[in-house]
Parts: sequence; structure tokens; C-alpha cells
Amino acid sequence: MQPIERRRLIQRTRTSLLCRVVPRALGWMVGLAGAAMIAACNGVLSQTIEAYPPMPAGPPVPVSAAAQARVQALGRGINFGNMLEAPREGAWGLRVEDKFIDLVGEPGFVQSVRLPVRWSAHASADAAATIDPVFFARVEDVVQRLSAKGVTVVLNMHHYRQLDGDAMDEGETIVAPAVLELRFLAMWRQIARRFAHAPPSLVFELYNEPHGRLDKRWNDLLSRALHVVRESNPDRVVVVGPVTWNSPTALPRLVLPPDPNLVLTVHLYEPFTFTHQGAEWFKPALPVGVDCCDAAQRRTMDELLDQTVREAARLGRPAFVGEFGAYGKAPPSARIAYVRAMCEGMAQRGLPWMYWELAAGFGVYDPAAGRFRDDLKQALYGP
Ligand code: BGC
Repeated sequence: MQPIERRRLIQRTRTSLLCRVVPRALGWMVGLAGAAMIAACNGVLSQTIEAYPPMPAGPPVPVSAAAQARVQALGRGINFGNMLEAPREGAWGLRVEDKFIDLVGEPGFVQSVRLPVRWSAHASADAAATIDPVFFARVEDVVQRLSAKGVTVVLNMHHYRQLDGDAMDEGETIVAPAVLELRFLAMWRQIARRFAHAPPSLVFELYNEPHGRLDKRWNDLLSRALHVVRESNPDRVVVVGPVTWNSPTALPRLVLPPDPNLVLTVHLYEPFTFTHQGAEWFKPALPVGVDCCDAAQRRTMDELLDQTVREAARLGRPAFVGEFGAYGKAPPSARIAYVRAMCEGMAQRGLPWMYWELAAGFGVYDPAAGRFRDDLKQALYGP
């Protein structure tokens, strides 16, 4: 090869190397810079509510047959209260014990279990609200074992105290106000993803008894939470209740995003001076010795049931009573009378229900004696 040709060849090789390597390197650098920018933007975005858009607006949609059937399948249920919604499991004297899960499988007891969970006390304090993996696995195990009993399980978020503007419980950490709602949404993203492949007998309930600070925020927040859930669970039945502690009187204020698998819950504790007499957490404490149910008390109970049915029809959604019950300090015979009246009222109106709760202060089961409180159990679930 002539020296000139060699030079040309070397030059050509250099040029082609330059042309192949440099643009690639540049592309890489641009790509890396782009990726870094996207990551940075995501980081910033997940610090703002814009990272969690609400459900797209649209005209009301009819409820799905599956959601309708799922609500009916709730039948007569029980709340596993004071267990996983305590600041730490066991802090309120109860853990989800194997024997409680076994009770669920007993013939003639319940068709559904509501599982209240205080996720907020088991998640990081930042906007990501990373749920503690040990706690996550614990809840998942309980959900799976309950589901294996053939019941519908309503898994909720309970007692995110700061979200309602309430005082924190002992041992809980206050988070920065700027991340309060972001955490709520980030937790739902994680919960929804974790249970995305669970059977349809698992139902999500977005939040227990929104009140206080949430009075003005709830409609917006529930829409964003539903949107987050729908990313990974397009069809799962999701339960939502009104503000004012899920009172049916607040149903007219509830704005429902158009979603065929969204259903309603309410909580009924009237006559409150009867159901909460002697309750230690209610201040000032209500005097004990209050009876139930005279004509005026019955009227209040019936009106709330009627309002639930009326509003559910107006909203075109099936509803159920997610909590009702009387504290153990009520006179025993009045407690039975109350439960009978409620069960009768709900049955007449076709409302499925879940008693509050299994084995604590309202309990249908006496954990110390290791047996059901038979009169209460019979009044609720029959012989
Ligand atoms: C609360 C419980 C309380 C019950 C009756 C529930 O929604 O989470 O802590 O015992 O209502 O007041």
C-alpha cells in the first residue's frame, strides 16, 4: 500500500471511529442527563399532590353487578377491632390470634371480616411512606388466612390520626404537614400493588371515619386515592364512606368519582349516649346505666337507616353498615335489645353489616373465658 493510501486509510478509520464512538458517547451522556432529569423531576413531583391525579371526571356510571353482589356477600360480618389498628399490634391488649381466625370459619358465624389497620404508624415519615416490610408481611398473612376461610375481607386504613387533625397516640411520630396527604396516597399505592393479585373477595376501604381536618379535603383525597388504587387494581371493589365519622347524615356531602366498583359504607352508633356509655376514650365520659331502646331512640335509629338507604339509592351505589355496636358497660339486657333492633332494622332494609367488634370492649367473644358471649352472639348471628 502506498504511503498516501495508508494515511487515507488511517484517516478514514479514525474518522469512522470518531463518528461511531463520539455520537454514541454523546447520546449516552444526553441519555444519562435526561434520565437524571426525569428521576429528579419524579422526586420533586412525588413531593407534590400533582403526582397523584384525581379520577378523570365524567358522568355517573352504573354500579357493576360484581360490586353489587360483593356487598350482598358481606352478609353478617365482624370487625377485627383493637388489633392491627392499635399503634402497635398488642398495644390495646389484642393480637390477631390463630383462634380468632379459626372462629371465622365456624359454621353460622360470619360471612365477612373487616380488618382495620393503622398503616401510618408502620410507614416512613417521608412522602414515600415506605411500609415496614415485616408489618406488611404480617398484614398480608392475616388477610390470606382470613380469605382462606371463605369470607370477604375488607382491608382498610384506620387511625391515621394526623390526617384527621387528631392528637397522636403514644409512640406515634408527627410528620411534616407537607407530606401528610402524600403519605396517605403513597401508602395506598403500596397496599394496592401488594394485593393486586388477591382474589376479588378482598375489598379495599380507603379510610375509616374521615372527620375534622378531612371534612374539607375528603372528596378530593378519596378521588386521588381511588386513582392510585386503580393503577394496579382496575376492578377491585373499593369502599368509601362520608365524613363526620362515616355518618349517613354526611352522605349528601360525599362526591363519588365515576367508578362502577365503588360502594358505600356508613357507621351507626346512635343512640350514642347508650352505645358509648362508660367508654374510656370518649371525653367527657358518658354516664353508665342508659337503657335502650325506647320509641325516641328507635326513631333515631330508623331515621339513620332510612337515610342510608335513601342516599345510597340517590348515589346509585349499594351500601353496608361497616360498624355498629354497644360498649360492654351498657346494661346487658339493653345491649341485646339494641343489637336486636339494629339487626332487624338492617335486615328489613337489605343492608349487610359488620359488628364492632370481636374480642375487645364491644366484643361478641370473651377472650379471657375463651368463648363467645352467647346471648350477644345469638342476637347478632342467630343460634
Ligand atoms: C374506632 C374504635 C372505636 C369504635 C367505637 C371505631 O371506628 O376505630 O377505636 O372503639 O369506633 O367508638
